[in-house]
Amino acid sequence: IRMLLIGPPGAGKGTQAPKIKEKFSCCHLATGDMLRSQVAKKTPLGREAKKIMDQGGLVSDDIVIGMIREELDNNPECKGGFILDGFPRTVPQAEGLDSMLRERGQTLQHAVELQIDDGLLVSRITGRLVHPASGRSYHSKFSPPKKAMTDDITGEPLIQRSDDNAEALKKRLTTYHSQTAPVVRYYQKTGIWKAIDASQEPGTVWNSLLAIFDGDS
Ligand code: AP5
Ligand code: ZN
Repeated sequence: IRMLLIGPPGAGKGTQAPKIKEKFSCCHLATGDMLRSQVAKKTPLGREAKKIMDQGGLVSDDIVIGMIREELDNNPECKGGFILDGFPRTVPQAEGLDSMLRERGQTLQHAVELQIDDGLLVSRITGRLVHPASGRSYHSKFSPPKKAMTDDITGEPLIQRSDDNAEALKKRLTTYHSQTAPVVRYYQKTGIWKAIDASQEPGTVWNSLLAIFDGDS
């Protein structure tokens, strides 16, 4: 499969994408996860990106396009296709993706928008717990881990993201509406855009995705 998930912070991109990866044996490319791994390693890019991410802004288009290109070229899992999560989030990134795919003789099959009102996102974001190494996420109320603050699979500790507070979320939402809403309109013109009601419970959102994939392999 070759597809992308687009939606505001907390819409459920990182919750649904691993299920798509499992179903289609493709790669899951999340630019936010890639940037957080640079932050954790304290690389020069990571130090620069952390300031921007904690303020709810966007890292430069060239950097994230380069990260995606690198994965598409070298990640063996991407041979089975890809699911993009959090990329593209500006029109120049969407154009960059188009030219990367053109070079490869590939096309996108689905651009799925996870639609949800801003008001529902505060509780999702402030309750999120993540396992940094895998990117797996939980929610203290909506999908708690089996043991408090502990990853179900590795037993390692869960943390809260440094940008998961009400103040940073407000800025991330402003950025989404100004920079990423135009990307939604970009895909609406293409015929591969579909929208899902992302306010439903995770299993219902998954069923809506399955309906979109009907017939894909
Ligand atoms: P990124 O990591 O992409 O963050 P985001 O877009 O703000 O999205 P989130 O990860 O917050 O939301 P999600 O949709 O994945 O939600 P999740 O499924 O975890 O980016 C972070 C930063 O990196 C950006 O702000 C930017 O600075 C930078 N960056 C990244 N990509 C970039 C790019 N391309 N260009 C430039 N800069 C870039 O769910 C959230 C919570 O809700 C979880 O606790 C989950 O358990 C719960 N939940 C999920 N679904 C449901 C449901 N249906 N019902 C109830 N609870 C649910
Ligand atoms: Zn995410």
